[in-house]
Amino acid sequence: MPQNASPDWDALRSRARGMTERSYAPYSGVRVGAAALTSDGEVVTGCNVENASTGIGICAEVTLATSMVAHGSGQKLVAMAVVAGDGDPIPPCGRCRQFLYEFGGDAMLIETAEGIVTLGELLPGAFGPGDVAGRSG
Ligand code: THU
Repeated sequence: MPQNASPDWDALRSRARGMTERSYAPYSGVRVGAAALTSDGEVVTGCNVENASTGIGICAEVTLATSMVAHGSGQKLVAMAVVAGDGDPIPPCGRCRQFLYEFGGDAMLIETAEGIVTLGELLPGAFGPGDVAGRSG
């Protein structure tokens, strides 16, 4: 898909819902799935993965972003749907907003229960790569 074309939100939502079936959530029982369009037109997916050491579980958005990097599936996240097992959109948690910012920036689109918003709206004034560059040492 050309980068300036509209993402296929129905397809992203459907892929996200499918990923809730892969979710490993025996502790919370909250299954979460995510699907995102990358800058090279591929779709990457993720699901939450919990752990007996409950605090170290990871969210669907994090497995999605790490999967994109690990598979070399594109440089940027363009648009993402994230849903619970019932198919309803859920808002990305605070940590996920920050994690996604690295790969999506302000312009990344996210479908929420209130409609499609930008990551810049969900995480105003974000700390990002530009705030690190030139400051180390
Ligand atoms: N969860 C996500 O996967 N993404 C979010 O943005 C919010 C929360 C997961 C984490 C945990 O496995 C479950 O939902 C309940 O908090």
